Amino acid sequence: MGEETVSEQAPAREQADPRRDRPVHVWTLVAIGLVATAIGIALGFAIDWFPVRGSTQADDIDTVYHVLVVASVPFFVLVTVITLYCVWQFRERPGEEGLDGPSIHGNTGLEIVWTTIPAILLIGLCTYAYVTLTNVEEAPAAGAPKELRVDVTGQQFAWTFAYRGLDGKPVKSAELVLPKDRSVKFQIRTLDVLHDFWVPEFRMKIDAVPGITTSYRITPSKLGSWSVVCAELCGVGHALMRQKVTVVTPERFDAWIRRKQAGGMAATGAAGGGGAADATDQAAIGKTLFAEGNGEATACGACHTLSDAGTSGATGPNLDEVLKGWTPAQIAEAIENPNKDVAKGYTEGIMPANYGDTLTKQELAALVAYLEKTAAK
Ligand code: CUA
Repeated sequence: MGEETVSEQAPAREQADPRRDRPVHVWTLVAIGLVATAIGIALGFAIDWFPVRGSTQADDIDTVYHVLVVASVPFFVLVTVITLYCVWQFRERPGEEGLDGPSIHGNTGLEIVWTTIPAILLIGLCTYAYVTLTNVEEAPAAGAPKELRVDVTGQQFAWTFAYRGLDGKPVKSAELVLPKDRSVKFQIRTLDVLHDFWVPEFRMKIDAVPGITTSYRITPSKLGSWSVVCAELCGVGHALMRQKVTVVTPERFDAWIRRKQAGGMAATGAAGGGGAADATDQAAIGKTLFAEGNGEATACGACHTLSDAGTSGATGPNLDEVLKGWTPAQIAEAIENPNKDVAKGYTEGIMPANYGDTLTKQELAALVAYLEKTAAK
């Protein structure tokens, strides 16, 4: 008897639910959906999401992104419009408190449709992305300049770059210098935890995984200077694991490699002069170092303003203002141990603490000589 009562009552309740009979404005929803889709896709194309396209790979990768926008906006709009519409149209009105609404026991047709369509879409997009990645990473064609090999090593919290297969001495560097229009293959390793080797302008990116070597290939297509970024949370210094990548002409690249092989600018200068350079030469070498760095040590001028050297960096203190009256010993100390006495308003750890390693003794002396001369002005 009890069972019958329940089964009799349930349909009665369902029929009593007035929400059941509310109209569904299908064509209005379709119209809203189409307009919202058009706006969404237009925004997806109008917003300038990306940094400069710095490699030949960038075009195809940006296209993948735009295809994804076109494919996903309609689904986002579909779900959002239906959800908001149902919240509004089937909301609880006065007198409907406690009504449960009609129960639904599944809809096989609908379930097949909403499983099949996303599955086809997903397989299609994955295939497209895979084919694009394979194509952009193809080895350079015969007749193209010989591919450059660079070993990239991650370690908390810096990258080291080693150039392989050169004529003459192998080259290690803390700055990444690359020739334009020549394919580069990076072999990426880590000495400790996971890191991720990324230059946003090149678009490609891969984890440095303990125990294995990963790799990717790009061809720089623009001259410029950007950041090498670590894109995997790797410890307290993760945000500071940034270095410079500079794309130069092939001629400048060859000159840079030769200079690195010779062991630094000042060392070459001293050897060429047959002894210690005199004070004027020293200051001139120091000025070049300040403005351009030596390939391994980042240029001081990238972060410091100094009108004599024509630099306008604003990350560190303005040396036109703070340098007056400094002794050579103080200057040398500030370069080699930047965290010992940090200027007011600046944060410890921002200035690289490795200038003592990335500058040779002669280069450091030249830099100090130059800055002392400028400070005395
Ligand atoms: Cu290395 Cu994050």
